[in-house]
Order: sequence, then structure tokens, then C-alpha cells
Amino acid sequence: MEAKCFKSMALVFFLFIGLASSDVPYLRQGSSLSVENPDDVLVSANGMFSAGFSPVGQNAYCFVIWFSKPCRDGSRTFVWTANRDTPVNGKRSKLSLLKTNKIILTDADEDPTIIWMSNNTVKMKDSWSQLKLLDSGNLVLQTRTNLTLWQSFDSPTDTLLPGQPLTRHKQLVSARSRTDYSSGKYKLLFDNDNVLRLVLDNPETSSIYWPDSTMLDYHQGRTRYNDSKIAVLDSSGYFLSSDNTEFRSADFGFGPLRRLTLDFDGNLRLYSLEEQQGVWFVTWQAMSNSCRIHGACGPNSICSYDPGSGPKCGCPPGFKMKNQRDWNDGCEPEFELSCNNHDFNFVELRHVNFFGYHHDILRNYTFQECVKDCLVSCCKAFQYRYFPEDGRYRCYSKWELRNGHRYNSYVGTLYLKLPKSFPYDKPVEDLKLNCSNMQTKQLETSYVKKTGHGSLNVIIWCASIIGLLEMICVSLVFFFLYKTGKSPDALSTMATSRYLVAPTGFKRFTYGELKRATRGFREEIGRGGGGVVYKGVLPDQRIAAIKRLNAEAHQGEDEFLAEVSTIGRLNHMNLIEMWGYCAEGKHRLLVYEYMENGSLADNLVNNSLDWKKIFEIAVGTAKGLAYLHEECLEWVLHCDVKPHNILLDSAYHPKVSDFGLSKLLARDSPRESSFSKIRGTRGYMAPEWVYNLPITAKVDIYSYGIVLLEMITGKKPGVGVPVVGTNGEKWRQRLETWVKGKKIGASGTTCWVEEVLDPAIGDDCDRNELDKVIEVAIKCTEADRHHRPSMSQVVQMLAGDQINAHCLPSFQ
Ligand SMILES: *[C@@H]1O[C@H](CO)[C@@H](O)[C@H](O)[C@H]1NC(C)=O
Ligand SMILES: *[C@@H]1O[C@H](CO)[C@@H](O)[C@H](O)[C@H]1NC(C)=O
Ligand SMILES: *[C@@H]1O[C@H](CO)[C@@H](O)[C@H](O)[C@H]1NC(C)=O
Ligand SMILES: *[C@@H]1O[C@H](CO)[C@@H](O)[C@H](O)[C@H]1NC(C)=O
Ligand SMILES: *[C@@H]1O[C@H](CO)[C@@H](O)[C@H](O)[C@H]1NC(C)=O
Repeated sequence: MEAKCFKSMALVFFLFIGLASSDVPYLRQGSSLSVENPDDVLVSANGMFSAGFSPVGQNAYCFVIWFSKPCRDGSRTFVWTANRDTPVNGKRSKLSLLKTNKIILTDADEDPTIIWMSNNTVKMKDSWSQLKLLDSGNLVLQTRTNLTLWQSFDSPTDTLLPGQPLTRHKQLVSARSRTDYSSGKYKLLFDNDNVLRLVLDNPETSSIYWPDSTMLDYHQGRTRYNDSKIAVLDSSGYFLSSDNTEFRSADFGFGPLRRLTLDFDGNLRLYSLEEQQGVWFVTWQAMSNSCRIHGACGPNSICSYDPGSGPKCGCPPGFKMKNQRDWNDGCEPEFELSCNNHDFNFVELRHVNFFGYHHDILRNYTFQECVKDCLVSCCKAFQYRYFPEDGRYRCYSKWELRNGHRYNSYVGTLYLKLPKSFPYDKPVEDLKLNCSNMQTKQLETSYVKKTGHGSLNVIIWCASIIGLLEMICVSLVFFFLYKTGKSPDALSTMATSRYLVAPTGFKRFTYGELKRATRGFREEIGRGGGGVVYKGVLPDQRIAAIKRLNAEAHQGEDEFLAEVSTIGRLNHMNLIEMWGYCAEGKHRLLVYEYMENGSLADNLVNNSLDWKKIFEIAVGTAKGLAYLHEECLEWVLHCDVKPHNILLDSAYHPKVSDFGLSKLLARDSPRESSFSKIRGTRGYMAPEWVYNLPITAKVDIYSYGIVLLEMITGKKPGVGVPVVGTNGEKWRQRLETWVKGKKIGASGTTCWVEEVLDPAIGDDCDRNELDKVIEVAIKCTEADRHHRPSMSQVVQMLAGDQINAHCLPSFQ
């Protein structure tokens, strides 16, 4: 092993020397670069960059652009890769520039297979071209007149170089792990609302973690109103994006080579090269605490962050690592969890929180009441925390342990439910101090990739040194900051200060202001959901929808504020934005953005929606609800999903409204599990309400399914569809029963869809999309809530193909 690494180091060194003096820095038409010839490397005129084949595993090669100067350990730093998800063989594979001006990468196993091809269109008049590597690190295919036919800058992988813009249809995709360069689960991209974001994009979940999704983008210095969607790092180390994200590298100024890389751990980092040492320093990073990167550790595990060595995943007492090789699978209990069983105790874990996923929030509970509640339910743990705002304790009962992390500044405590018989049944004080009870391992996943070529073992051991190097880099940066007179904290402050915000992201209005804005509550634009909605013009000329709640003075001002600030923190392009509120005397008002095109209900009545809009509304509404259910700070059920609560902006993009109102309006039940009373609208309500079953997110999914059926069929739920039986008898059937009946009755023929489809939709609908919507609608309206998908699964089902369409072809 050691000899092999040494050999490749020598090779890299040789290449560097050998090619810097080469004077053939371009590839002509009809010629190719071979994987077998180490001299087949294009080098930029300034010698900084090289392009050629590079090993990524045993007998696995990628066509790569890298920084010519190797790192101190001899490893290469990749900048761009043509075929990251489909490595080629070490024999007879080559990159060729065809006479037709196409660049192709072929893997000659038995028959040559085209693995990758440049996407340029071929025009006869550009009959002459050459492929060269520019000083910027951009690999370009140019004509005689210097016209660019294709460039690597247009298809970034995980790195942006100075001068390489990130634009509308481009994204950075992280590597899978330290040792596996194939596409991973994190992305940097411009979202539909024009904001540059970091997202975790797994098959099951997709969630935003930068900018912080629990606060308004606006308060994190971002704007949605510039739709040019362009971001670029310049060579002085200054990054500017059209959404106003900007930062400077810690060593701001011209000089060092820099790169902005979305690392495998989901953090976006700016690096500068220290040429003498061959070491990359981190000079900026998006997330100062990597435990806040979603998906850092799997379910039931706790992420803890040590600025020296980075994030670590651990299992709480009573749990063990599920898959020894991969923290993504999290931890599993070593005991049988049972509901309503008094043979359990609680272990106190200080400074630990499992973010989100509360089953319930119990207010003004004593500790004993919390314990009791958890013992008699299926609760796995609870959080008990004092809220100085209202001088009371709250108890968050957790039925799922996700996004666990521990940081010393967090004042809450988690109480984990473990069997009495369990060996950890010691005085609680000891447990929380004994860190060796937390099984902790360095965050690292190794990965074996199988391809059609048999098992390519994509593990470069030389590359694992990169990991070590990264740790050195981080430590050096601290040292560097320290030396330049900044405190070691400066790095984290620097990284976040632009994004630190006030806790409540919106304005408090006086009653007088809102009365003037609505000219004495004159223009009524909606009714329901606990109040009447008026149109108004705010002092800053923005047009607003102002809702006057009926539940006047039902709750104290502080309590109202606490709830409103929760709702105000929810921020998603498919949720209506709350701009402010008024709580004055008896008056309770909410101020929302105004939506030009009214509600989906109005539009369904007018038949003003074509298929394209209907499909967008289906997907957008699902995304908004998925965000409510799974993304945000406190788990919010909508409980009244219906076309009246889906509003359409000027471009007919849907936004869900009236969420969180169930919390504002129901204050009377002693347990404050605001679900003790039936809520919702006839026709859209899930069977759980009727049969008095537990109310979960699945009630919203049911209502959403009914909304889909209403959009497709043009028929109103709640009144029933008239049907005629075989003997001529007439009755009315529930909408969902009717559609399912048509489907079952069709027995394999295809025309049942036409029978249920609203004639107003007509022929312009995309059949593929229609089939997906119907399938989703049927699944969502299953009577048994366990058979309904989750909202994020719905998003995946409806929009999944759109995402996958951009993927590279793979061997499977
Ligand atoms: C090739 O792909 C890049 C990046 O996706 C894009 O900007 C460019 O327009 C494409 N070129 C053609 C001819 O499709
Ligand atoms: C093309 O670019 C090269 C290098 O920048 C330059 O020397 C040459 O004059 C250019 N050719 C044309 C036709 O502009
Ligand atoms: C939008 O952003 C681009 C790039 O940062 C900038 O050049 C442009 O002036 C901005 N447009 C507006 C209207 O602010
Ligand atoms: C909280 O609970 C205590 C004891 O159960 C009670 O005395 C107090 O009035 C409650 N406070 C509020 C605001 O409900
Ligand atoms: C911590 O727990 C481990 C294993 O449970 C035990 O061996 C060790 O003695 C404990 N340390 C302290 C300081 O209690």
C-alpha cells in the first residue's frame, strides 16, 4: 500500500515537471488522451491547472481537472470531473475530440461505450476546433476565431473557481464521502424564489439548512426580488450573489489560488492555497457548527461539534450504531420500546436537543406531569424547558428522535425513556457526566460502489490523507486568525455574523395603523378560518391581506405573541408570508402578503386554470405542506387544507395560508393538545376525526388528496357524486369512493381516467403528469392513515422525475 502511494506521488511529481515544459497544451480534432499514457495531460499556459485521467479507486479513473501543484501529501485537488458517477477502466479508456467537434469519453471494456459527451451542438461552419485548458482552470473547446463551443465552467461539479459563475440551471453537488468522489446528497443552488441555498437532497427528504430555514431570508440579508440568479467569486476572494449573499475570504486580496467547494459533509467552504506548504486553508465557511447541517447524523443519534475535530455522531445510552460503516443509518435501541408501560425510567441528557418532530407541546406542565405523559404514551423522550417569556415550563414530547445535537450553549435538557431493567439505571447525575457512555466515532463513511463493470472498489487510500489535511487546514486557520490578532472565535463569528438575526422576523402594527390601511375594514376579500380578511395598503405602500381574528382576547398577549412568532418564522415559497401582527387590547390581527389571483377555490369555480397551472399548484401545495410537516421549528399540522386556503400569486404560484391558526384559536382544552375538538371542513376531513383516532400529519395528507381530486374532476367534495346503480336506483357517492370505483371498475382498460377527468381541463394535459396526480390523490385518500404517503414522499412522487432528468446516465 505504502509503495503504491509513493509511486503515485512520484508520478504526480513527474507529471508536474514533465508537462510544465510541454509546449503542446491543446488537443486537436481527431486525437485523444489515453488513460494509459501518463503524458496525456493538458496543462494551462500558466501551469496552474492540469486536465487528464486520474485514478479514483482500484482500476477506476475519471477525467478530471486538478490543481497542478499537488498537496503536501501528493494528493490532487479536483476542480471538475466529467464522469464522477461512472468511472472508467484503466485500460483503453480515452477522451477524444471528434472531427465533428464533439468531445467523447469512452470506456473500452469489450466494445467502446460512450460514458460522457460534451453537450455542444455541432455546426458545420465551425469545422476546426481545439480543446485547451485556460489559465482560469476552464477547459474550453474553441474555434479558430476563439468562439467557445463548450466549456467545463458551464457544468460545475462540487467546486467553483474564481470567475466561474453559478447561474440559473447550475448547481454544485457535494462528493459522497471523503474517499468517494461520486455525487453526494448536498447541493448548492438557486431556489425557485431566487435565493441561493444549501439543501440536503436525499431520496426520502429534501431540506434547506442554509440560510437558516427557521428564520426569514430577509433577516438573513437575502432578497428574493432579484431574479438574475448569478453568483460569482472573484480572484480577490470576494463572493457576491444576486440574492445579496456576500462574503470575503479571511485573506482577502489578490494572490493565492482559491476555490469554493461544497464538501462531502455539506459545508460550503472557501479555500486558499498556501503554495509553499501545499496546504489548503479554509478562509470562509457557510456553517460554523456542522451539526446544524441536516442529515449530519442519522435518526436516534446525537451530533456533537468540536471546533478542533469537527462533528461527531454518537448514540445516546441504550442505543447502538445501526450500521457500523455508515452514520447515515443512525442508532437503534437495544431494548424493546413499548407504549403505556410504567417499567421505564428517564435518563437526563443535558444540552441535548432533538430538533423539530415534536408530537406535542404541553404548556405549564410540572416535571412529574411530563414524566407521566411520556410513560402513558408512545413517547421516546421529552424535552423540558423553562421559557422566561411566559415564566412557564414546556414539555415537548418526542415520538421520533431526529436532528439530535448537543452543544454546551443550549440550555434545554432531554429526558430519554429507557427500561427500568436497563443497566443505565443509575443516578441520573452520573450518567450525564460520563461521556464514555456515549459511543462516539469520527464522522466518516466508506462506500463501495457497484457498477456494470463488476465491483469497482472506489476507495483511494491516498485520499484519506485529504481528510487529515482538512483537519490540519481547519486548525491552521484558527492559528492564522489567532496570529492576526483575532480571537479563535473570529472564524465562527465571521461565518455567521451576516446571518445572525433578530428572533422575531416581522413588524408589530398598531390597531390604528391597520384601521387606516384598510380604510376602516371596508374591502372584505375572504372569510373563514377564524376571521374575516380585508384588503389594505400598508404605510410603506405594500398591499396586504389583513385578517381580523374572531378569537378576540381569547389568550394573553404574550401567548399570542409566542405563537405568532412561531408562525412568522415559517418561511417557504409555498407558504403565505406573514408580515406582521397586531395585539392591542381585545384586538388580534394578522398581516399577510396579498395574493393577486385569490384562492384556488375561486379559480376552480371560474375554470380559469389550465393543466400546467393545476400541476404546478399540486406540486407547490405539496411542497408547502411538506415544509410545515417536516422542515420547521415546531411541528405544525394545518388541519384545514382546502382550496380556500390555497392562494395564488400573480404568476399562479400556490401558497398555503391559514396554517398555524389551529394553535391561535383553540385555547380551551386543558391539555392544550389542540386536537381535542373536531376541526376542518366537511368533505375534506380525514376519517380519523370521525373515528376519534390520533390526529397526525396524515389528516392534512388526506385533505390534500381530496383537493387534488377536486382539481382533476371539477366536482365538489362533501356533496357527493350522483351515481345510478344497475337497477336504476340513484344515490350519491363520496368523491374519493367514486374515483376509486371507476379505477377498479375499469379492469385494465385505459379510459377510466377520461371518465373522471373534468371536461374543462380538456386535451392539453400532460398524460404522464395526470397519471401521477391521480395516483397520488388515491394514495393520499386511503382510509387507513398508515397507507397514506408523507408529504415529502408526495413531493418526490410528483416532482421527482423533474429532478432526476438532469442526472448523468449511469451503468445501472
Ligand atoms: C450545455 O450545458 C450547459 C450547462 O448545463 C448549458 O449552459 C449549455 O447551454 C448547454 N449547451 C447546449 C448546446 O445545450
Ligand atoms: C485567440 O486567442 C489567442 C490567445 O488569447 C490570441 O492570441 C489570438 O489572437 C486570438 N485569435 C483571434 C482570431 O481572436
Ligand atoms: C441583481 O443582481 C445582479 C448581480 O449581483 C446585479 O448586477 C443587478 O444590479 C441586480 N439587480 C437589481 C435590480 O438589483
Ligand atoms: C400553571 O400551573 C400552576 C399549577 O398547576 C397554576 O397555579 C398556574 O395558575 C398555572 N399558570 C397558568 C398561567 O395557567
Ligand atoms: C463511565 O462509564 C464506563 C462504562 O459504562 C465506565 O467503565 C467508567 O468507569 C465510567 N466513568 C466514570 C467516570 O464514571
